[in-house]
Amino acid sequence: MSERTLSIIKPDAVERNLTGAVLKMIQDEGLKVVAMKMIHMTKEQAQGFYAVHRERPFFDSLTDFMCSGPVVVAALEGDDAIARYRKLMGATNPDNADEGTIRKLFALDVEKNTVHGSDGPETAAVEISYFFNRLEMVG
Ligand code: PPS
Repeated sequence: MSERTLSIIKPDAVERNLTGAVLKMIQDEGLKVVAMKMIHMTKEQAQGFYAVHRERPFFDSLTDFMCSGPVVVAALEGDDAIARYRKLMGATNPDNADEGTIRKLFALDVEKNTVHGSDGPETAAVEISYFFNRLEMVG
């Protein structure tokens, strides 16, 4: 079933000029980019995006990191896109990520872990609409 997921190429990757390499892996996987832009979030915008994690001990550090530099946000589309993108990303902590995954190749640690991907259909819909309106989406 075709579905959409929200991808973020995080500040650690944009800063190291890895945007193209990550996008190539996404496209080689067969996922289609249906919306994309580069933004630099404010602390408030990062806190809003990660609101579900606000009670977790890393919330302040994570939201500081996510507004420390530009990110590339994209909506990806394809059959089973959510699970396929999470598999391509690899485990949250790069120490546990499988060979050949984005995080195994590029992530620095559990915070500077290069990419974000939605974890389910409801989250994906909320996350895509956090960054994109309908005019900014193809199809
Ligand atoms: S997941 O993928 O949602 O199941 O992972 P989870 O462990 O719940 O982590 C949610 C997001 O928090 C980030 N994270 C951390 N940031 C900083 N420090 C620590 N210790 C830490 N642990 C987890 C993790 O990268 C997830 O970010 P996103 O952007 O959602 O991938």
